[in-house]
Amino acid sequence: MLQRAEDLDSFWAYRTGELPQDNQLLLLDNVQFIYELALAQLELQSLGVNFEVTNSLREFKLLELKDEEVLRRKLAYFKFVKGKPTDYFQIIQKNRTRSVNQYLTHWIYPYKGKFHPQMIRALLNIIGLKQGDIVLDPFIGSGTTALEAQLLGINCVGIDISPLCVLQSRVKTESIEALPQIREWKEEVTKRIRPSLFNLDGKTIEDAINLISDEKVRDFYRMAKLVAISDNARRGREFATAFLKNLELMISSVLDYAEIVKKLNLKLGKMDIKAGDSRALPLGKESIDGIVTSPPYSIALDYVSNDAHALKELGYNLSEIREEFIGVRGKGQTRIDLYNEDMKKSLEEMFRVLKPKKYAVIVIGNATYLGQEIKTVEFTIDYAEKIGFKLVKNIDKIIFGLYNVMQKENILIFQKEGMP
Ligand SMILES: C[S@@+](CC[C@H](N)C(=O)[O-])C[C@H]1O[C@@H](n2cnc3c(N)ncnc32)[C@H](O)[C@@H]1O
Repeated sequence: MLQRAEDLDSFWAYRTGELPQDNQLLLLDNVQFIYELALAQLELQSLGVNFEVTNSLREFKLLELKDEEVLRRKLAYFKFVKGKPTDYFQIIQKNRTRSVNQYLTHWIYPYKGKFHPQMIRALLNIIGLKQGDIVLDPFIGSGTTALEAQLLGINCVGIDISPLCVLQSRVKTESIEALPQIREWKEEVTKRIRPSLFNLDGKTIEDAINLISDEKVRDFYRMAKLVAISDNARRGREFATAFLKNLELMISSVLDYAEIVKKLNLKLGKMDIKAGDSRALPLGKESIDGIVTSPPYSIALDYVSNDAHALKELGYNLSEIREEFIGVRGKGQTRIDLYNEDMKKSLEEMFRVLKPKKYAVIVIGNATYLGQEIKTVEFTIDYAEKIGFKLVKNIDKIIFGLYNVMQKENILIFQKEGMP
């Protein structure tokens, strides 16, 4: 594991050295794709900045700026604003992994199909969400939208049909509130991991976890166990070694989170993460200020099989659970038809709960099934426009990675038409 340095000048992932001049904004070094440049420009525009792109597209000259502090606190794609580091640049230093995207608690649990967190921060800015507003992600998955909203002081309602997703999203965002209790329980839980002189009563690690009455602390240890089970199943690591190592890393990540909140004086958003169905949202009409989400991409990933070991461990019956998941029911054309029906209901629900004039961002791609490309992007645009959304931006985003089944996805930004 690489050691992280607190000093901005020595962070491994970024070129350092020259400080930008006074009237400049400097892009972060990991910004490499055209869609990221497009989003970087959109976030500046929505924060009311007049700018000009200079120097091989990496530096932006500020032409007019009302409040530089707001930029420094919110921007996702920039390293410096007028010579001073952005909050985001400082947040991403708190990283216990080798992946630039997996800072703070984002890394906890190897969930497939995660959002790129930097993109979510930018999108929250682009659709104009502010501290105290409520963002909804009706397919919260691994909790990326929740954690990024929390960091910006935006409240988040996160829904997912999968109990594993609800658990990981809660642990990533709520453990910070229970850090002292989490540390108090560490010894009691870890001494159950292997039989020893100090563990003669025959109690297992599961027994110790079940004794914990505080839900946030219990969830934290249940998650640590699932991360270790996954390490054991996917990488062949011995369970006890994996558990102890991951637990240490999880605690350090939550500590990092608490430290950066203090250092940057962040006011965290409130989280409301629960199990539910996107086709029947447990929310009132026009109660939400913005939506940022990514539904299952037709039949691209089977979320039930993919997380089968963890869902079983949590005590769920896979064939029962499968009935409620979008994109995994039926075979052949029936599977596609069922998916389309479920997505129509989900889009109608998003429309119902969103306030008029507000925005819904849907990230989605076309998958290939039985040798045919399924036009999910076109289907989503058509149906959304039919029910009263207006497509205001459609940005192509490449999916980078050698083994991806899909090469491209689209960032669709809709506005709900209607009177404010
Ligand atoms: C593409 S993933 C979301 C990934 C997420 N954006 C992230 O960053 O991790 C789609 C999610 O939809 C969830 N899902 C499937 N059917 C659902 C339903 N009927 N209601 C709510 N969520 C559902 C799956 O469990 C999965 O987590």
